[in-house]
Amino acid sequence: MSQRKTTSDRNGGYTVPSGNQAANRETAQSLPDSKIRLLGDSLPPYVPAESAKGCTVYEAETPPTRLHVGDCRDVLSRLPEAGSVDLVFADPPFNWDVPYGEWSDGMPRQEYERFTYDWLDACIDVLSPTGSIWVNIPDDSAAEIVMHLKRRGMTMINWCIWHFRFGQNRNNSFILSKVHALYFARDPRKRTFNAEAIMEQSDRAAIYSDARTMAKENNKGLRVPMDVWYGQYWGRIQGNNKERRHEHHNQIPEAYLERIILSCSNEGDLVLDPFCGSGTTQTVARAWNRASIGCEYGADVAASAWQRITEVGMIRKGEALGRSTAIAARRGPRPTGNGNDRKNTGTEQEQPGLIDLS
Ligand SMILES: C[S@@+](CC[C@H](N)C(=O)[O-])C[C@H]1O[C@@H](n2cnc3c(N)ncnc32)[C@H](O)[C@@H]1O
Repeated sequence: MSQRKTTSDRNGGYTVPSGNQAANRETAQSLPDSKIRLLGDSLPPYVPAESAKGCTVYEAETPPTRLHVGDCRDVLSRLPEAGSVDLVFADPPFNWDVPYGEWSDGMPRQEYERFTYDWLDACIDVLSPTGSIWVNIPDDSAAEIVMHLKRRGMTMINWCIWHFRFGQNRNNSFILSKVHALYFARDPRKRTFNAEAIMEQSDRAAIYSDARTMAKENNKGLRVPMDVWYGQYWGRIQGNNKERRHEHHNQIPEAYLERIILSCSNEGDLVLDPFCGSGTTQTVARAWNRASIGCEYGADVAASAWQRITEVGMIRKGEALGRSTAIAARRGPRPTGNGNDRKNTGTEQEQPGLIDLS
């Protein structure tokens, strides 16, 4: 006997398994009462400094943009906007001995975990009741961050992967080619998700020329991107990449922040980045008319980021949107009159292997 899948409708006729949603909601409700202990729990929580005296704050208008120089655990503990941050994007130091300047990126593991829970707590405390938080983190700390967010009552919406092609070569294990992009919401039913703002050409359109996707009433040939992210303009920022800020380490592509900011916030919303680095989040937020607050520990790093945020601006606004990420060549004739005005309509790549994933 055939069984019906348990799915619930989302806007635009898309469906997600309702069992999956229910499991995530239930975990968010019951984990806060559990006795789960992680390594960093054996150290006492951070006590924020009492005053911000002497700390530099950069400010600009239209849209309101602010960058604090200092430790995000201190800055967030006295943020006037506490409770009204709509979106947090955090790309913390990974504790991989990266020379960030003033910040020392090589703590004993237990201390690093404690630090991680402290800044996560500080971000949760400033989030609005409808807010979302995204964390960019590699394999070695993803599980702990997921567990901590869950035990703080946050609901997982997606566990995305940012896949890149130029990992460092090695011959004793597989080459690292991904980072986790963890998407949590305070209330899964009251969060912002603008599906149409971030759609891309579907494989049905790009490879199979499927007439049914062209016959849809809305969003012909388009879909919400999958949860593994790659494609043109999604490579690590290195070499002669136009976006590159040479004095910074671990700069994230604009396309990555554009996807998160457009989908999880509206114009005029407030976006927070506790680990500003080169300023990618605030640069993209400003380009798309979102207010933003950033924190950066290193004074020189912050000065350079501020110059990018307020003077250089976003280099590729809108360029990554709508592009196909198909990894196979078209199998049929190009569809005609499809009404699809997104980039790459009919795909520019007609042979396998020609798609630039760098
Ligand atoms: C991985 S980088 C962020 C990169 C950024 N997403 C970009 O695209 O350029 C982390 C940054 O956080 C800063 N940092 C480290 N600890 C910090 C803290 N406690 N408070 C504020 N900033 C911190 C480091 O100096 C570094 O610039």
